[in-house]
Amino acid sequence: MSRFEKIDRLPPYVLSIVNELKLEARRRGEDVIDLGFGNPNHATPPHIVEKLVSAARDPRNHRYSVSRGLPNLRRAITRWYQRRFGVELDFETEVLNTIGAKEGLSHFVMATVSRGDMALCPDPSYPIHAFSVLIAGGDLHRVPLQPLDGFVERLREAISLSWPHPKLLIASFPHNPTTASVDLAFMTKLVELCRENDLLLVHDLAYAEICFDGYRPPSVLEVPGAREIAIEFTSLSKSHAMAGWRVGFAAGGAELIQMLGRVKSYLDYGTFQPIQIASILALDGPQDVVHEVVADYQARRDALIDGLGSEWKIEKPPATMFVWAPLPERFAEMGSLAFSKLLLQRAQVAVSPGIGFGPSGEGYVRFAMVENTHRTRQAVRSIRRLLRDG
Ligand SMILES: Cc1ncc(COP(=O)(O)O)c(C=O)c1O
Repeated sequence: MSRFEKIDRLPPYVLSIVNELKLEARRRGEDVIDLGFGNPNHATPPHIVEKLVSAARDPRNHRYSVSRGLPNLRRAITRWYQRRFGVELDFETEVLNTIGAKEGLSHFVMATVSRGDMALCPDPSYPIHAFSVLIAGGDLHRVPLQPLDGFVERLREAISLSWPHPKLLIASFPHNPTTASVDLAFMTKLVELCRENDLLLVHDLAYAEICFDGYRPPSVLEVPGAREIAIEFTSLSKSHAMAGWRVGFAAGGAELIQMLGRVKSYLDYGTFQPIQIASILALDGPQDVVHEVVADYQARRDALIDGLGSEWKIEKPPATMFVWAPLPERFAEMGSLAFSKLLLQRAQVAVSPGIGFGPSGEGYVRFAMVENTHRTRQAVRSIRRLLRDG
């Protein structure tokens, strides 16, 4: 068979190695606690499910919908931006419904990056942030994200060293996997850097609502002048426990939104209309679900980090559904993939090796807080046993 250049550019998916081992262990009957794949386990609230069911009974909702999303859904997301960030958006020109944040972001990158274009991406990163560039045929300049202090300066240097001149920066705060979280002053610096250097800023804000201890992540659109160069992606997956429904949004300047809308009009007919209708209710209806989900992630985070205590000291993240942990000193030499295998084999706990998110992820593992607190405590006990016994 002839070579398929785009496919061949995708490296083997390191994260699937631990996943395979997990499946094998489960087939052997082992009770593996899965903190690897970040697949939320909360149930969507009943009022949203009920709305989906009743809308699905109406044959008028069985046709192709509109690719940009129903006007009322776009109005609902502009209301959310107004409530959450004080940002005013025009529902006609500055927002779009996407099939999850991931679909919107990756199609935007695929639409704007051409063969030979250069894009900057923090390293480590959520895999599609880097791989959408490769799929588009572009070249990737990975810029180490850690420590966050100095990141903007490292980006500045990367821009000056990159040839051809980079076209866009793909950022995401609160960040998966590192949980790095920023304030508005930091976001302002990012926007200024992109404006000064003629870069598009693609910002993934999938964890807008998943934040703790009084921390509130900013939107890039809060920064004056950001709209001309920035597009931001948000999602109902985590905040409203709707991961499988595939509902996300793009927001930003009219020109960028129009570009994405144009590409999407060729690619899809929009999200199934009953899902859009239920999503309007999710955004406009009672928000208890968001508070419950956040409280739950926080309780799981605390159960893990407090539970591991002094045996494995980990900093508490201010946001996301993840915990990013440096390998315990005694195991640091073995690297994140071997340590993840060890955790699986000896403690029956699946985690993601940091190396799976890019070279700078080495030395860390990522816990996804997708098991309840009881199971999380069970994981803590087995990990502590492993750490003690070696
Ligand atoms: C940074 C980031 N963006 C996007 C997604 C996926 O969002 P969605 O379900 O809206 O596609 C995830 C899920 O893990 C994520 O971590």
